[in-house]
Amino acid sequence: MPGWLKNAVFYEIYPQSFQDSNGDGIGDFQGIIDRLDYVKELGCNAIWMNPCFDSPFTDAGYDIRDYYKAAPRYGTNEDLKRLFREVHKRDMHLILDLVPGHTSYDCQWFRESMRAEKNEYTHRYIWSNNIWENFDGVNNISGSIRGISDRNGSCATNFFSTQPALNYGFAHPDREWQFAPDSPEAMATRQAMKDVMEFWLQLGCDGFRVDMAASLVKGDEDGSANIALWQDIRAFLDKKYPQAAIISEWGQPDQSLKGGFHMDFLLHFGPSRYLDLFRGEHPYFSREGKGNIKAFADKYQEYVDSTKGEGLICIPSSNHDMPRLGGQLDEAEIKLVFAFLMSMPGAPFVYYGDEIGMKYQKGLHSVEGGYDRTGSRTPMQWNRSLNAGFSSAAPGMLYIPLDPDENRPTAKDQISREGSLWREVQKLIRIRQAHPALQSLAPLHILYAKENEYPFVYLREDEKERILVVLNPSGRDVTCRLEFESLGEVIYSNHGIPAYENGEWKIPAASAAFIKI
Ligand code: NOJ
Repeated sequence: MPGWLKNAVFYEIYPQSFQDSNGDGIGDFQGIIDRLDYVKELGCNAIWMNPCFDSPFTDAGYDIRDYYKAAPRYGTNEDLKRLFREVHKRDMHLILDLVPGHTSYDCQWFRESMRAEKNEYTHRYIWSNNIWENFDGVNNISGSIRGISDRNGSCATNFFSTQPALNYGFAHPDREWQFAPDSPEAMATRQAMKDVMEFWLQLGCDGFRVDMAASLVKGDEDGSANIALWQDIRAFLDKKYPQAAIISEWGQPDQSLKGGFHMDFLLHFGPSRYLDLFRGEHPYFSREGKGNIKAFADKYQEYVDSTKGEGLICIPSSNHDMPRLGGQLDEAEIKLVFAFLMSMPGAPFVYYGDEIGMKYQKGLHSVEGGYDRTGSRTPMQWNRSLNAGFSSAAPGMLYIPLDPDENRPTAKDQISREGSLWREVQKLIRIRQAHPALQSLAPLHILYAKENEYPFVYLREDEKERILVVLNPSGRDVTCRLEFESLGEVIYSNHGIPAYENGEWKIPAASAAFIKI
């Protein structure tokens, strides 16, 4: 495992919405460079940047036209290289978004693949050999592109209809046009993706967040063929780029970490119960106090047991695909969310703007295939100047409109206000960085996680320290029994600390505490 993951705290940057440096209404690499000190000041030491390659942007860049070229709206390859350098100068790391499962319909590979004449790209995508035959019911195929090729056949899609699926084979090929994952045709695609990875690693990126990582091999119900594929890619990285990190959008660490990913996300889809935490009708972290942590904690423990501490299970504050925390939870509630995120194992991921409680914007027109996700992708709110400091363009030219609330939170206000959410996040990250027992790899023991009950209590430990984390997001004082009667130094507290009374611990309403034992 790359050493830098041990205490990595990631910040996710959506490049189009972070900082515009040239007044065209859309963010860019120079804008990100200009804001690196901000990210560092917050305490994050790693960045995941969403796709930034040339694209027609039918899915915000997850539809790549050219894997080897930065999207001109963000800058050139040279600018991107400069961004890597500036990141490294600050002792930080940056991972790019790798989209291996599909390209844009407008990719040269796909154009070649659509030709009737056989060529190098004929099998780069998944094609049936007859326009009337498509892929209904095949796992990991979302639909098909039909009727725009000279070649006779349907091409599988991976997500939107603009995203033809690359050919990594079928787990159990049973039609003549289906290839095995280790066939020369499927292996050629795999090699092409390794080449892309190598190209960017050589230019200085530190690894990849891998889009839809479980989707490459088709008809792979139990995930085993995709696991094998990623083990091979990990072996390639270990040999040539051992400091490069890969994190999967998979959402099932029991599979992905076996596949060689250093990290996997818990996500708003899949079996992890992530949604029980901060979202849905009764989030556990709401003061309303009607949440349930049990299913999440059980599932988490199951993942820890099955992965035996290999690899990191990463919990994001939110991301560009799900509603933000802000809107559902208020500032005080979000502080407790961050107390949780910064005291759990794995590498925490902070979605840009969550550190100031930016709100999900309902009802926006879809931008670049965002649909209801558009409301989570609005421009970063830096200050109270024009366009909240995001861009000098006329407001109507912004990529996505800003939160119209004149009291919208801004980074500048919060940095200068004692007790703000930003300050709390900064404090929590500093505490994490100062205590290895709270970092990525130190073991976790869940001590109290009961059906429909508060608090949630766990222990983090390493050879030097044992730190008890007690979280009571509910708006009422609660009690619980723990195996100790006294506690040591309080290293963090928000809204009071637990007190021992009549054989049980009383935990103040809406509080979080980290205490040495
Ligand atoms: C997951 C990405 O996070 C999402 O934004 C994208 O639309 C799909 N994968 C398709 O690539």
